[in-house]
Amino acid sequence: MEKYLGIISGNLYRYTGGKLFIEDISAEKICKKFGTPLYVYSVGHIKNQISRIRNSFRRVNPLICYSMKANSNLRVLKLIRKQDCGVDIVSGGELAKALKAGFPAKKIVFAGVGKTEREIISAIKNGIFLFTVESVEELRAIDSIARKLRRVADISLRINVDVNVDTHHYTKTARKETKFGMPIKEVGSVLKNRQDFRHIRIKGIQFHLGSNIKNSAPYIEALSKVRDFLRRTDFRPSIIDIGGGFGIPYRDEKVESIESFGEKISGFFMKYFSEASIIFEPGRFIVGNAGILLTEIVYRKHTDTKNFLIVDAGMNDLIRPSLYGSYHEIIPVTKKSGRKIVYDIVGPVCETGDFLGKERLLSQDLSSGDLLAVMGAGAYGFSMSSNYNGRPKPAEVLVSGDRVICCRRREKIEDLWKYET
Ligand code: LLP
Repeated sequence: MEKYLGIISGNLYRYTGGKLFIEDISAEKICKKFGTPLYVYSVGHIKNQISRIRNSFRRVNPLICYSMKANSNLRVLKLIRKQDCGVDIVSGGELAKALKAGFPAKKIVFAGVGKTEREIISAIKNGIFLFTVESVEELRAIDSIARKLRRVADISLRINVDVNVDTHHYTKTARKETKFGMPIKEVGSVLKNRQDFRHIRIKGIQFHLGSNIKNSAPYIEALSKVRDFLRRTDFRPSIIDIGGGFGIPYRDEKVESIESFGEKISGFFMKYFSEASIIFEPGRFIVGNAGILLTEIVYRKHTDTKNFLIVDAGMNDLIRPSLYGSYHEIIPVTKKSGRKIVYDIVGPVCETGDFLGKERLLSQDLSSGDLLAVMGAGAYGFSMSSNYNGRPKPAEVLVSGDRVICCRRREKIEDLWKYET
């Protein structure tokens, strides 16, 4: 089982002398320099996670296409690119940013149900590795655009494998009723008529089951469905892309370890797909527990029913608790000795849904000016942030050993109206 790497037990986030350290720097020192709210990412953790995937799957030598929607800071992207990864994108914006971060076009896979003509043109012109095609209309569009450009586009077909996964309703993506991929039957008829698409080369099959999947069984179920389906066709894919979704622990919940995922998926893959190569698109696994959000307590408030800690980070900075009811551990940057009481940790945004944590046990001695760390905030944290309530986005910093660098400056108040005319 995957252990919660977080705070106390891990070596990258730990307490030393009652103070929270990220690698070799204290969180307090980082906050003094960069202010709050602040996203902090550990370089060491990101590198570790990538090498763990590589080791776990070494028998099948995967192409790891990092799903940049999880965290698309340029320096984070560059770091991941240097670990020999490709990238999974979902828009023209992500394509441009991936290229800017130096990813070779030949390691870019492009998913998404609504690729526009402009996005398709740009991806073809840049020579990306694969489009992950999600509908017949999209297939026709890519074929016709490639014809006009006198090119042939390489694609994989995304199958909606109708496999359920144990995760939040919003992040299940392989059920029949979701918008993603094509029903198996339709993929069958596309394959039968594949010579009609003269400017498309169908290279692979892709599926993506959902996000934060805590065991490997659904992957095996999906791969079995793909195997059974392919047996009924004359198509032999050279690529199987099993999407992303590898889960991480946010607290002490049970998550199958990546080593065990690797063991099981590699075994199945070598048995039934030994002719093909394999691609993964992990996002959360690589960056999720590499990041924390540091925030300062602004006020305390005690009512008949609640103790609130009102902090300077809100749902606009980290929306996961509000949107999915996600749990993020919240710990003090400096340990306090006093008795623990139950708090709701809330932001300054004008919505009751604006909270970072509910019913958390923390010291009664915490007060205004004290710092808290919201753990597991590296994935879908900053990348889902907004300016709601006129709030400039936080800064982001990277820590490596005892060095810290700013990788996105804090937005200024003037940035709030920069694009308005
Ligand atoms: N590939 C495709 C086609 C995807 O749609 C996604 C995520 C991934 C890969 C990466 O999944 P990961 O390895 O990170 O689980 N905002 C939500 C998660 C949404 C995921 C969307 N697609 C959250 O905060 O939990």
